[in-house]
Amino acid sequence: MNQGREETLNSPLKGKRHMSFPNIKEVCVVGAGNMGHQIGLCCALAGCTVRCTDVDRQTLAQAEKFADSYLGGRVSKGKLNADAAKSVRDRISFTPEIETAALKADIVIEAIIENLVVKKRLFAELDRVCPEHCILATNSSYIVSSKIAPATGRPEKVCNLHFFNPALVMRLVEVVQGPHTSEETVQSVFAFACKINKTPIILKKEIYGFVVNRILKAIIDEALHLHDIGVADYHDIDTAVVNALGHPMGPFKLLDLVGVDLQYHVCMERYQDTGDPLDMPSPLLVEKFVRKEWGRKNGVGFYSYDD
Ligand code: 3HC
Repeated sequence: MNQGREETLNSPLKGKRHMSFPNIKEVCVVGAGNMGHQIGLCCALAGCTVRCTDVDRQTLAQAEKFADSYLGGRVSKGKLNADAAKSVRDRISFTPEIETAALKADIVIEAIIENLVVKKRLFAELDRVCPEHCILATNSSYIVSSKIAPATGRPEKVCNLHFFNPALVMRLVEVVQGPHTSEETVQSVFAFACKINKTPIILKKEIYGFVVNRILKAIIDEALHLHDIGVADYHDIDTAVVNALGHPMGPFKLLDLVGVDLQYHVCMERYQDTGDPLDMPSPLLVEKFVRKEWGRKNGVGFYSYDD
């Protein structure tokens, strides 16, 4: 789908065709939850060998079940033939052992909980178990890789590679270069993103929230504020954003999609960093978080979901 993209965009690959970028074929996805299970499938659909791992066996089992039903659905919809679906399924495997998942990886994409301490511990372990050439990318949307890279002995091979939800559908990925990230890593990750049929943009320096989530956070914060001060109900705010701004879904439905818990953790991490009360999660977000109404993933958030 992205064929020729390197030629047409103002990409770092332009004019560097003579350079050889490591050909990323083996992918390890750590964290098979909301984002990871779909990121793994994107890579397998594009021809990579993918090993997904998660500390939680139930999450891993659900990810495997999703792969089967998603590929089955593609065949039923006529979007993929049965042989191609089988090849994709054969290329993606699920294992609870991180060593097995990471052993041959050319790139690791980490998609675990948004918690710096946990991520640093994981990256130190990945540094031990991955091949020397392997790039370590974090899908984190808010934690910049310069906070994680010092936990490894290969900071030049560490960057953010940020996907959007649902990762199988959303085309954009953000490739974020930290001060420690080498040019070669950025170019390799950009080329890899094209290979898996994504539309990458490069952020030449780290900034909290990157491009998309900075814009999105402004919308979500304002939507929560309007609700919290009693201006309008969340249904009506969603209706307004869909029907006046043409967004595919309103901010509350979007929170259900990305996960109320994720948004809560992101706000808390930020608040711990800045100490600014304005960065605290809004009362409505806290209420939903405490009631475990986290959105689509557990059947109820701002809206209810049957399946
Ligand atoms: N997982 C996988 N595929 C999905 C899906 C899901 N959850 N939801 C929909 N799809 C697929 C469908 O299978 C269908 O594929 P096909 O056309 O190839 O058969 C296609 O998407 C369209 O689906 P529908 O017709 O059922 O529904 P819509 O047209 O309403 O699209 C949507 C659904 C793509 C989710 C659309 O509503 C949308 O784009 N919403 C906005 C999503 C968004 O803003 N995402 C960014 C969130 S921010 C983020 O991710 C930041 C991060 O840091 C958390």
